[in-house]
Amino acid sequence: MGAKIKGLGHTIPKKKISNQFFIDQGLDTSDEWIKERTGIETRYFTPDETGSSDLGYEAALDCLKNTNTDISEIDLILVATSTPDHNAFPSTACLIQEKLGCNNIPAFDISAACSGFCYALTTAEGFLATQKHKNILVIGVDCLSKISNMEDRGTCILFGDGAAAALVTKTADKNEGVIFSTIKANGSLANILQIPKGGSKYPFNETIAKEKSHFIEMDGSAVFKQAIKIVVSEIKQSLVSINLSTDNIDYLICHQANQRILDRICDNLKLPKQKCITNIKTFGNTSAASIPLAMSEFHKNHGFKKGDIIVLAGFGAGFTWGITIIKWT
Ligand code: ACO
Repeated sequence: MGAKIKGLGHTIPKKKISNQFFIDQGLDTSDEWIKERTGIETRYFTPDETGSSDLGYEAALDCLKNTNTDISEIDLILVATSTPDHNAFPSTACLIQEKLGCNNIPAFDISAACSGFCYALTTAEGFLATQKHKNILVIGVDCLSKISNMEDRGTCILFGDGAAAALVTKTADKNEGVIFSTIKANGSLANILQIPKGGSKYPFNETIAKEKSHFIEMDGSAVFKQAIKIVVSEIKQSLVSINLSTDNIDYLICHQANQRILDRICDNLKLPKQKCITNIKTFGNTSAASIPLAMSEFHKNHGFKKGDIIVLAGFGAGFTWGITIIKWT
């Protein structure tokens, strides 16, 4: 028994943040630098008192509407996020479940940073294979604006908030839906992208607040190099393992981290740039939401066609990565 994406939905917060916002905040940066080095022109931030569960709920509603699905048909909720409403519990998945009004079905969060959606899709595949579940809501949501140091020009300009959801259902046809998936991690690279303190090892205190070490810290150029090396090699291996080649790709949807990373991945794969779906210019890096958001937006505006080969490539903190290859139905 396999898995397929029946439909998608997404939402973004209302507050649009231009590059000028950071200059107005006193940051030593420029619109030209941000555009040229990242491809980002705008991103969206959630206001205080709006969290990942609120965005995730809106995306779930949009997905249910687009797939003409009643909430009573959903039997599992998986939420990929690094910015849960609460630091430990309750999970964001439980909060979304309560908002949707479908108590008593299992709901849990998956923490794999920007690879979260690929990790959650692969988890959904496993649950569908047990035949105990039929309709799984897979939600990717993050509000990285809430954990960004607005004084660190190397990180805060990159991130935006957003959410997207996919309805993942079972299929008996092995030649449709998810035709390949792999998820991997390399913890020896944990320190290149992390929130150093404020967790159980270094509980939050005044010193941490002063140091701002409870915010994202990143070795940008290490992440840049690792992302390209790992994603290119993993996509090539994945295609070979199912007797496909780069020529068979109709669409590549990578985690939207930096336009230059996406361009390099295409160059190294010798993939025409128009096959790479990007929306980083508008939304920035929305972490676990970025792949499903790009998918959902493209599907809404253009529509995938039956038989399209879509390669999803997630990568992010951990270091984690995941490739999912879909034959659209
Ligand atoms: N404005 C102006 N100058 C800046 C800015 C800025 N916003 N940010 C950095 N600079 C400066 C640096 O201080 C440095 O100055 P120096 O030469 O005087 O020291 C110079 O620009 C070059 O810095 P680099 O870090 O080498 O710049 P780079 O071209 O690598 O761009 C960036 C930095 C955008 C962060 C890039 O490395 C990147 O995108 N890395 C990958 C990020 C990523 O993929 N994250 C994904 C995972 S996110 C997740 O999992 C949560």
